[in-house]
Amino acid sequence: MGNVIVIGSYVVDLMSRAPRLPKPGETVLGGPFQIGPGGKGGNQATAAARSGSNVTFVTKIGRDLFGQDAVEHFKKEQFNTHFVQIADEEATGAALIAVDINGENQIVIAPGACGTMTKQNVLEADAAIKEGDIVVLQLEISMGAVEAAVERAVLHNVPVLLNPAPYQAFPREILKHVTYATPNETEASNLTGVEVKNEASAQKAADILHQLGVKTVMITLGHKGVFLSERAFSGRVLPGFNVEAVDTTGAGDAFNGGFAHAITSGQSLEEAVRFGQAAAALSVTKNGTADSMPYAGEIMAFLSER
Ligand code: RIB
Ligand code: NA
Repeated sequence: MGNVIVIGSYVVDLMSRAPRLPKPGETVLGGPFQIGPGGKGGNQATAAARSGSNVTFVTKIGRDLFGQDAVEHFKKEQFNTHFVQIADEEATGAALIAVDINGENQIVIAPGACGTMTKQNVLEADAAIKEGDIVVLQLEISMGAVEAAVERAVLHNVPVLLNPAPYQAFPREILKHVTYATPNETEASNLTGVEVKNEASAQKAADILHQLGVKTVMITLGHKGVFLSERAFSGRVLPGFNVEAVDTTGAGDAFNGGFAHAITSGQSLEEAVRFGQAAAALSVTKNGTADSMPYAGEIMAFLSER
C-alpha cells in the first residue's frame, strides 16, 4: 500500500440541482438541497483512500459544526489526521455548487480555514511527507503552503502531483519540481497561454510544461479522456469510459486520487491513468463529490468488465 500525502483544501459542499444554471442577477428554483464533504484536497484524499492507499491529509478546518462533520468524514475514510489543524478564528470552508440537468456545474468556493494554511502548518507535517510515496497538491490553499509542500517533497525525494485547480498565478519555478501535472483544458491554457482545443494544441501546451520542468503532463479532457505526454511531441489521448453522467462535480478529483493510488502501488503510467479514469467514471454516476468516490472493489470490477 502506498503512502499518499494530500496537502490541500477541505470544504463542505452545499449543492442544489436546477433545470439550468442562473444568469447573472437571476434566481432559479432548485431541487433538493444536498450537503457533503468536499474541497479538491478532501475529494482527492477520499478517492485515494477508497482506492486502497494510506492517506495522510494535511488541511485546516474550523471549530464549528462543519468542522465536526469533517472530522467524522476523515475518521470514516481512515485518514491519518495527525496534521489536520483546527483554526480558532476562521470557519470551515464552503463551496456553493449549482448543477444543471446535464450535470454541468458552477462553483464558488470560500476556502475559509483551509485558505489560511501556512508554510508552518506544512512544515509540521514534514515527517509524514518524508515517508510519503507521493505528495498531492491543488491550488485551493495559500501559495505559501503549496510552495512549502513542494520544497519538502523535493528535499525528501518524494514525487509531486500538482493538480493546478482552480488556476491561480504561481511562481513558475514550482513546475521544475512537478513530477505529474494534471490540468484540465482551461487550466492548461491558463498555465501556458496556448488555447487547448484539440490534440495538437494539447501537445503544444504539454511541451511548454515539459520545458518548464514538468516530467509527466496529463491534461484531463472530460469525457474525451486524458492527454498523456511524457516528453515533447510524444503525447497521446487515452480515451476515458462512457458512462451515464449524473453529477460530474469532483470527477477530476477522482482521477487524481485514483491515479495517485495506482502509481504508488506499482502500476505503469498507462495503467494508473486507466485506474484514475475508472475512478472518475464511477464518481460521475453518483451524486455528490467526496461521497461519490468509488472503492477499490468497484473500480476493479468496472475495469475487468472492459
Ligand atoms: O473539484 C470539485 C470540488 O471543487 C468541490 O468538491 C468543491 O468543494 C470545489 O472545491
Ligand atoms: Na459525483
